[in-house]
Amino acid sequence: MFDVEKVRNDFPILKRKIHGHDLVFLDSGATSQKPESVIKAMDDFYRNTNANIHRGVYELSVESTGLVDEAREKVANFIGARPEEIIFTRNASESLNLIMYSWGRDNIKKEDAVLISKLEHHSNLVPWQELCRETGAELRIIDVDGEGKLIVKNQKIKNSKTQSEVFIENGLRVRLGSLESLIADGKVKLFSVTGVSNVLGTIPDLAGMLTAIKRKAQNATVVVDASQMVPHMKVDVKTLGADFIAFSGHKMLGPTGTGVLWGRKEILSKMRPFLYGGDMIGEVKITGATWADIPSRFEAGTPDIAGIIGLGAAVDYLENLGMDNVREHEKELIKYALERMSKLEEEGLVKLYGPRDIEERGGALAFNVIGVHPHDAAQVLDSFGIAVRSGQHCAAPLVMSFGVPAMVRATFYVYNTKKEIDYLVSKIREIPKVFA
Ligand SMILES: Cc1ncc(COP(=O)(O)O)c(C=O)c1O
Repeated sequence: MFDVEKVRNDFPILKRKIHGHDLVFLDSGATSQKPESVIKAMDDFYRNTNANIHRGVYELSVESTGLVDEAREKVANFIGARPEEIIFTRNASESLNLIMYSWGRDNIKKEDAVLISKLEHHSNLVPWQELCRETGAELRIIDVDGEGKLIVKNQKIKNSKTQSEVFIENGLRVRLGSLESLIADGKVKLFSVTGVSNVLGTIPDLAGMLTAIKRKAQNATVVVDASQMVPHMKVDVKTLGADFIAFSGHKMLGPTGTGVLWGRKEILSKMRPFLYGGDMIGEVKITGATWADIPSRFEAGTPDIAGIIGLGAAVDYLENLGMDNVREHEKELIKYALERMSKLEEEGLVKLYGPRDIEERGGALAFNVIGVHPHDAAQVLDSFGIAVRSGQHCAAPLVMSFGVPAMVRATFYVYNTKKEIDYLVSKIREIPKVFA
């Protein structure tokens, strides 16, 4: 395990005061803080190397190109992939849209079904809604139980719509139910699911679901939204069972403006481009063009060169901590937070959401303070220097299915401590007093 106090020293922002208090940053699920080494890598680039990549034979351009190639190799090694399978994007949303536009439009037909889950962030929901609306395919959604776990078997679902209910709205055919009921007819052509819920922390049983799906639809293509997964645990695409994964650099200590799409080489090589322009072409005539090989085919225009270099430095930082240690640290934090928060729940002060078994959840803690609007609760916490998010967390259908308009969410990462959780709990106790 790593020394969390040493880790904290690497993050300059953690020395900030907020409203006179030490900053307690509990919103890494939205974006993480950046260590000195990431900031320095970007600063060094702008001071010493800045030039466009793939554009010149002069020294600076050659060096810039080399730094981006190096970052691509680091990201590839980090997830067990080949460098040419790593596409740099702006964020996970763009990565998921790329799959939808470039793969989805050529492969999903009216008679097919696209399967997702109710846990999805809007970025892994809305693109598939739009694809299904365009193609006439059916959108199928695996429902969640009261704890926020995906419902696998057909069963009576408490607080949930009936099984496999089909409804049509705005030209979109939607079916909601258990995994078993949604895959039975073998029509699922694409399964796109989150690796870890950004709201409830739920970690779905990916391996079990993939086995069940492949039994019914052997050729189904699998996408994992790994935005809350790659930053927090060891991911190896060689054993994951996915054909594509999407994640954001900015949630894994890297800079904003960076995201990653990984896809199997055999699939990416057959896909058409998503964006057209410079750097993604083979040959251009006045009447048309051919496309570059992967990954360039999917990286039109000047990328966020400094950001990509910063992302490479973030990968170095995480590798140095060890991803198994990162996961262990977060498990300890979420276990401790659940223990402490459960006491408040027993006292009738808060309502907690999400699975209670820490093996089945990541470092996200969603809750509400009874009788207090989540935005008000978050504002009171902010007045004590605690940064938490409140709202629907870009997962409106999920949050609303718990019968509430919004939730407060604290998310933990490598620099968070049990002491900060104690502080959070003590300040949550004060919230009702503010509104008494
Ligand atoms: C599970 C999940 N998917 C997708 C996204 C979208 O990431 P980005 O904002 O980097 O596109 C997020 C961001 O919160 C997320 O948590």
